[in-house]
Amino acid sequence: MTVRELRERYLAFFEGKEHLRYPSGSLIPYDVTGRLDESLLFNGAGMIQFKPYFRGVAQPERKRLTTVQKCVRTGDIDEVGDDTHLTFFEMLGNFSFGDYFKAEAIRFSWEFLTDAAWLSIPPARLSFTVFEADDEAIALWRECGAELVFRLGEETNYWPAGAFTYGPPGPCGPNSEMYYWVPDDEPAPDPTTYTVEDWLRDEADRKWVEIWNDVFITYEWQGDANPIGKGYIKTGMPELPFRSIDTGMGLERTAMVLSGLKNVYATDVFTPIFAEIDAVAGSITGDPTAARRIIADHIRTATFCIGDGVLPGNSGRGYVLRRLIRRAVLKGDRVLGIAEPFLYRVYEGVAASMGDAYPEIRERAAMITETLRNEEILFRRTLRAGTERIADLLHADISGEDAFRLYDTFGFPLEITKELAAEAGVAVDEAGYEAALVEAQTRSRAGQELETVYGAVGGAKIEGDPSPTEFLGYAEQSAAATVVAIRRTGERIAVALDRTPFYGESGGQVGDTGTLDALTVVGTTKSNGVFWHALAEGAVPPAIGATVTARVDAARRQRVVAHHTATHLLHLALREHLGRHATQAGSYVGPDRLRFDFTHGAALSPEDRAAIESRVNELARANDRVTTYVDITPDEARARGAMALFGEKYGDKVRMVEIGASRELCGGIHVGTAAETLPFRILSESSAQSGVRRIEAVAGIAAMDHLSEERATLETLAARLKSPVPQLAASVDRLLESLADERRRRERAERQALTGGNDGATPAVEVGAVRLITRAFGEVDPKVAAEAIDNAVAADPKLVMVGAVVNDGKVTFTAKVGADALAAGAHAGNLLREVAKVAGGGGGGRADFATAGGKLPEKVDSALAVAVDMLKRQVSG
Ligand code: SER
Repeated sequence: MTVRELRERYLAFFEGKEHLRYPSGSLIPYDVTGRLDESLLFNGAGMIQFKPYFRGVAQPERKRLTTVQKCVRTGDIDEVGDDTHLTFFEMLGNFSFGDYFKAEAIRFSWEFLTDAAWLSIPPARLSFTVFEADDEAIALWRECGAELVFRLGEETNYWPAGAFTYGPPGPCGPNSEMYYWVPDDEPAPDPTTYTVEDWLRDEADRKWVEIWNDVFITYEWQGDANPIGKGYIKTGMPELPFRSIDTGMGLERTAMVLSGLKNVYATDVFTPIFAEIDAVAGSITGDPTAARRIIADHIRTATFCIGDGVLPGNSGRGYVLRRLIRRAVLKGDRVLGIAEPFLYRVYEGVAASMGDAYPEIRERAAMITETLRNEEILFRRTLRAGTERIADLLHADISGEDAFRLYDTFGFPLEITKELAAEAGVAVDEAGYEAALVEAQTRSRAGQELETVYGAVGGAKIEGDPSPTEFLGYAEQSAAATVVAIRRTGERIAVALDRTPFYGESGGQVGDTGTLDALTVVGTTKSNGVFWHALAEGAVPPAIGATVTARVDAARRQRVVAHHTATHLLHLALREHLGRHATQAGSYVGPDRLRFDFTHGAALSPEDRAAIESRVNELARANDRVTTYVDITPDEARARGAMALFGEKYGDKVRMVEIGASRELCGGIHVGTAAETLPFRILSESSAQSGVRRIEAVAGIAAMDHLSEERATLETLAARLKSPVPQLAASVDRLLESLADERRRRERAERQALTGGNDGATPAVEVGAVRLITRAFGEVDPKVAAEAIDNAVAADPKLVMVGAVVNDGKVTFTAKVGADALAAGAHAGNLLREVAKVAGGGGGGRADFATAGGKLPEKVDSALAVAVDMLKRQVSG
């Protein structure tokens, strides 16, 4: 049975049982209402996105859903490369939200596993476990015809594992696991050597492989984070309003055992990926099995992470992604001998294998390959720089501090240092590394806590009852409202109202400012649906229950919204001009300017920049009406061509903003028609982080202000240059030309003075048949001095000339000997050596010509004075 077949068969079976096929949640753990599950780094189970449905706080389209969920679990990353471990895998699941429960769930599982029309597994090859107290589940399995049914504790038979006692908070319940017997002979337990648990769960033995898990969601586990140490302290476990089902079948693993394969990498889903890896492989060092598997696994994880909006970075998800990419590159480089960036090519294998089931990885192909390539190029550069440093360290065991420095300074994750150390046969002090890491984290957290205390959340005291605020700001800029809560954070005071026209900072758009009656609002933020109006320092807040008139600073708002609409037009223009990989990666929309970050590997040329700016202006001039679709489903939005803002998860209903061909999901406020953003000016283009570029720009009134400032500068210049603005360029050219003329004239004069004149020169001294002139040139161009010396010696073959030039606090001596003087025994090199010594230097050279340096410019005269004695010795001796 192939992965492809099993995926389709499972979903079809449950569709036949009235389940709706529902798309996989994002790998970034957003739930169906768009809320991010802060307790998780990645989505690792089918049920994560459905927590609000289990709790009854949101209603699904149908009470029965079935999914194939993309999952990332990195806990066993070091095991990847063996036969079974993966960081990315797919989980099949069927869900009931207050519809069917245990009896039907167990019957569905039995039917799908054993029925000839579906998986047709002989019942003798299956065993089942239930939570130790769950008599009902045992009876249900037996009714179906199961023989091997065992009771186990909460560590294995509660979801989440151990949740009965330990949490985490959230929907939970007892579960029942299904195991498949792999060997050819029939299963025969030997209770004298095995406990049931050992027999079923001996992973190394791998006779029984767990393939499926039915969870009977019943309770909401409640508890508080443990103030000392890890985990939670249980405060209660009330029953949920209704009972639900969550099941999970590991897709690759089940396909593997059903096909009689011994390792998960032999399944069809990996075939196209290995084909790409083998196509780029160079000369292989050692056994490539583990390296090929690690690359195949990590490229899948990386592709799906980037597709869901994770970018490589130095913390959280971004760091996990960066580690995976780097480890894959290292394996490719070291073991498979791949010298050039290759991961972006292996992506093709992932797309070929999984692009049908997950269209997003094809839609975002450009963006994924661009990111992979940039990260790989960056890492290969780091690798080259750090390899030298590592080579120095690899002679002995690597200390924790050095390992940490390699990470901190050179970007070598510990695993990579460990891998290089293992190759060299030395150890790494991991405990020391952890200690250094914790110290660094504590340092950075101390900073963060400070921020929270002074910012919005931590240490705040709230009076009144802040419930979600009704937002009026799309249509209104002022409204009467009632004060419902006051929040004090140190000296700062913020007010919550029952309704407000103030926009709360989100989606890059800054919060509004304005007034509540006579009080000044300096900013507005939003948290859990409550809009907080921050008051100016020293304000006395209104009483709870008081009615106030909330008035937005309309002029500022107008500047902000022009920038917001302009970011949408800019996004469209960037994608038209650079390609579909150019996707929003962050933004700031304020009254002063906009900032737009987008994924793109290279700096924009001046031509690109000009073309993009003029395209945005053109889109604005088309003056399309800004149309907002509120409360449409994500599918409707997609059908209307919404650019799915990757990296974000939207709820059941979304808001879509359309301006001509631009369609984006957006909760922000916009202008009425596109021309209100005119003019649009790009101020700068720069790098935001690797693979992400940043444009800063101004639009609308802010751009007009910017233009006025530029004009004021021009007019000042025009007045200073006494030239009308249109002729300014020509005037500046003339000015520059006359400056250049002036410089040339000065240089000529200097040269003439030096070559023709005699400043600083001693009168010629006759030494036998030879004449000596020394000259302190002072601070002049050494070339000009050399020319003066050349000319003098050329004109007089008897002459020995020694010159000194001072520049940057250093002396340069030059000596030249004419032909007759040379014949008489003068030697420039020897002469100069003694001269330079006096000025704290040295040097020498040929008999006819030499140069030497000195560090003591104040000694120039006494140094030159030595020349005559030296020459006397040369000529007489
Ligand atoms: N949530 C359960 C699991 O991950 C069943 O889907 O095993």
